Amino acid sequence: MALAGTGMFYMKQRLFNLAEAKCIGEGSFGAVYRCEYHGRAYAVKRILIAHANHGEIECLHRLRHAQSGSHVEDLDFVANLFMCYMDDENVYLATELVCSPPAEGGQTSEVRCSHLGDLIERYSRSGRRCPPEKAFMVMWQCLRALAAVHRRGCSHGDVKPNNIVLEEYGLDAVLRRVRCVLIDFGCGTVFPVNCPPPAASALAAYYRDPAASRANVMQSDVWSLGLTFLCLYLGMHPCFGVAEDATSEMLQRYEYYEKLLLCAAMAGPAGSIDRDILLLLSRMVRCNPAQRASATELLALASEIAESERCNSFIVDEVTMVAM
Ligand SMILES: Nc1ncnc2c1ncn2[C@@H]1O[C@H](COP(=O)(O)OP(=O)(O)O)[C@@H](O)[C@H]1O
Ligand SMILES: [Mg+2]
Repeated sequence: MALAGTGMFYMKQRLFNLAEAKCIGEGSFGAVYRCEYHGRAYAVKRILIAHANHGEIECLHRLRHAQSGSHVEDLDFVANLFMCYMDDENVYLATELVCSPPAEGGQTSEVRCSHLGDLIERYSRSGRRCPPEKAFMVMWQCLRALAAVHRRGCSHGDVKPNNIVLEEYGLDAVLRRVRCVLIDFGCGTVFPVNCPPPAASALAAYYRDPAASRANVMQSDVWSLGLTFLCLYLGMHPCFGVAEDATSEMLQRYEYYEKLLLCAAMAGPAGSIDRDILLLLSRMVRCNPAQRASATELLALASEIAESERCNSFIVDEVTMVAM
């Protein structure tokens, strides 16, 4: 059977036994399970056929196509589709399971799955700030992911902390490595490369673009990623205390952040990682979509920062070592 428009054929065959698998995430449209196949671990997302968005499957398919054949480095930070299949009721999307090894002394089976939302929650509860080096590494990797996705003519449509999963592993209690992976193309769209991207959709939610009616899908992704970074950097929700549907209040809050970031990016001593982060943020958290930088421009700026001397102390290779 082919799902109309996706150009993809589906195997009508059950590959994973979800009945015995551990559920690692539950959303409005399905559930995600940790499964094994030939000794490797996968995240298998089960979606009712009636709720499946072809855009999600098309995005994953297009990105996988770009990846197949040879290793494409810029897709290292995007969920890679391993297999897509269906039965009478559901579509199953299996991607690489992104997880961290068990805590010290734990069983090897106790791998931990966490996303950026958990990390932000941890900082906000403890009242500690995310070390700027770590915040920058997360930003740099996520920008690589978003630029790679946009370059392939895909948009994400739902960038937020819970859709960025983390692999964290430590060499000792203080120094950790971190890898971020962009997941969940449930609101994704594909469009012809080198054509104007389609208009964004204006759904009310914390991370959605408040100016979606005037923006295209790529500009809206940049907004959502900027707000995600801001949360991480501040170690708190930027709309703390505001209801998710209080649009005008949220907009006021966003305008306030925009002004604050613009001022902060200009002031302060040059050459510090905090200033670099503020500069990046000030080009993303802009209420006017036309004033936002593209993911590719932001990535160029982040890469320049990453190559600077002030990053020598913590960037080791693709991933990094940062103090917790
Ligand atoms: N590849 C993965 N590796 C690790 N955890 C994952 C992976 N995919 C999904 N998850 C977990 O499952 C949750 C829900 O998955 P997601 O694809 O975002 O579905 P939904 O559309 O329901 O939000 C995520 O927030 C994350 O915690
Ligand atoms: Mg999600």
